[in-house]
Amino acid sequence: WWRSVEPAPKDPILGVTEAFLADPSPDKVNVGVGAYRDDNGKPVVLECVREAERRIAGNLNMEYLPMGGSVKKVEETLKLAYGENSEHIKDKRIAAVQALSGTGACRLFADFQKRFRPESQIYIPVPTWANHHNIWRDAHVPQKTFRYYHPETKGLDFAGLVDDIKNAPNGSFFLLHACAHNPTGVDPSEEQWKEISKLIKEKGHFPFFDMAYQGFASGDPERDAKAIRIFLEDGHLIGIAQSYAKNMGLYGQRVGCLSMLCEDEKQAVAVKSQLQMLARPMYSNPPVHGALIVSTILGDQELKTLWLKEVKGMADRIIGMRTALRENLEKLGSPLSWEHITNQIGMFCYSGMTPEQVDRLTNEFHIYMTRNGRISMAGVTTGNVGYLANAIHEVTKS
Ligand code: LMR
Repeated sequence: WWRSVEPAPKDPILGVTEAFLADPSPDKVNVGVGAYRDDNGKPVVLECVREAERRIAGNLNMEYLPMGGSVKKVEETLKLAYGENSEHIKDKRIAAVQALSGTGACRLFADFQKRFRPESQIYIPVPTWANHHNIWRDAHVPQKTFRYYHPETKGLDFAGLVDDIKNAPNGSFFLLHACAHNPTGVDPSEEQWKEISKLIKEKGHFPFFDMAYQGFASGDPERDAKAIRIFLEDGHLIGIAQSYAKNMGLYGQRVGCLSMLCEDEKQAVAVKSQLQMLARPMYSNPPVHGALIVSTILGDQELKTLWLKEVKGMADRIIGMRTALRENLEKLGSPLSWEHITNQIGMFCYSGMTPEQVDRLTNEFHIYMTRNGRISMAGVTTGNVGYLANAIHEVTKS
């Protein structure tokens, strides 16, 4: 039956974790996958999550959720993206379903796009999270790209981005990272977002936001929703993929949300019913436990306040590590500029290292990261930053 099946290529991100786990070296460092670690390099369960778990344990319920997931969890999630007092929420214009984290939300949207706009394409930034390509490929939506990152400045290619938005056929779909762009750590400024929003409106494009890192750009989820709020002010219809993997540390719980702002309540009801129709034959309904954790935290002022403090704590530790990595490289007398380490934001530093330099880091120093030169700053600690800087210096100095 399966003689023709060849092994699939390794995943460029999750394959790095597999290689890291297989390496017996005591020196090994994993700065591959975007998963937060504490300063001892250990995975973190947030205090607000532990407390929510304690509360849930007394009130366990293993029933199925509805196809669209937990209504309470979805309501709270929408407030984070659209705003606590959003008119759109009040007017019931948002079709939203719980999704299998950010990946599941993107995939559900891509399938929806294919089903209801079968001739459409998706414009994806260069570069982007590697899995975006897989998601829209498997949903059979053709992909186009738009310029985003400038390798020389290690910043935004704003002129290229604007050009590509202008030159795309009217009514195209655009995938945007709402904040803390993955893998580059480069976000447009507020003024640039305003310009992008205006252009996308003029061209009648559809903006779809992947918001996997809300809270990791500025340390404040509310501020990180700024790009979305600009688009809402400008009267766009938008789609958003949200995830609690990073900002609540609920990686393995697969808890996220897909929402689509519609023209009116009637349209939102129709769109939601079709999203559920896509979910039913795929996974029927989403898992209950992560949703309970989220709704317990966000539905309680004290736990929510604790969560916001803990998100800021994670973001601040990463910022501290950016400074430490840059300082270490400068102290070593690196001839290169490492300013971008502290200019970029969010969980990642797009270092500018070549795939060959990354291979040397892995083979000679047991440092594991994606071959595009992305460093997950969340894996950098006080204990390994010196070792990492030294290794980077060794492979980049000549
Ligand atoms: C990453 O980019 O490292 C994360 O989003 C994890 C993943 O699923 O790839």
